[in-house]
Amino acid sequence: MKRKYSVWISMKGLICSFMLSGVVQAQSTFDISILAGSCANCHGTDGRSPGGIPSLAGRPESVLKSQMLAFKSQTPPPGTTIMNRLAKGYSDSEIDALAQYFARLSPSLPVVQKETR
Ligand code: HEC
Repeated sequence: MKRKYSVWISMKGLICSFMLSGVVQAQSTFDISILAGSCANCHGTDGRSPGGIPSLAGRPESVLKSQMLAFKSQTPPPGTTIMNRLAKGYSDSEIDALAQYFARLSPSLPVVQKETR
């Protein structure tokens, strides 16, 4: 009887550690492009804006990061309309990751060369 009980305890420990490793893995494989997709409505697909809102793709990482942090701060740049409210929803490490993500994208779509014969 006593022995059965201790087997159950160690089974529980095993299940717990499986669950924990699942959580850790989910965080480390987090895909920043999903978060970045929420910027596309205004800043264009992959941060290439077709309109009046600035593009994000290919801008220097440090600039994107400092702009986001400025929006998030208590004193956003004058004239800010919406980014101050949006930026507050992201942690500093998410802002780091977003800045890195957009900085690495090419500012223009690659030109597809047509084959001429
Ligand atoms: C609802 C529309 C909207 C969404 C969604 C949005 N933005 Fe913006 N963004 C703006 C507008 C408008 C500005 C101009 C500043 C202002 O008026 O707030 C701006 C400005 C910026 C700037 C400064 C650009 C510059 O050169 O002045 C950065 C950086 C930026 N946004 C990053 C982001 C990121 C990263 C996301 C996604 C996490 C995002 N934005 C989502 C509308 C949006």
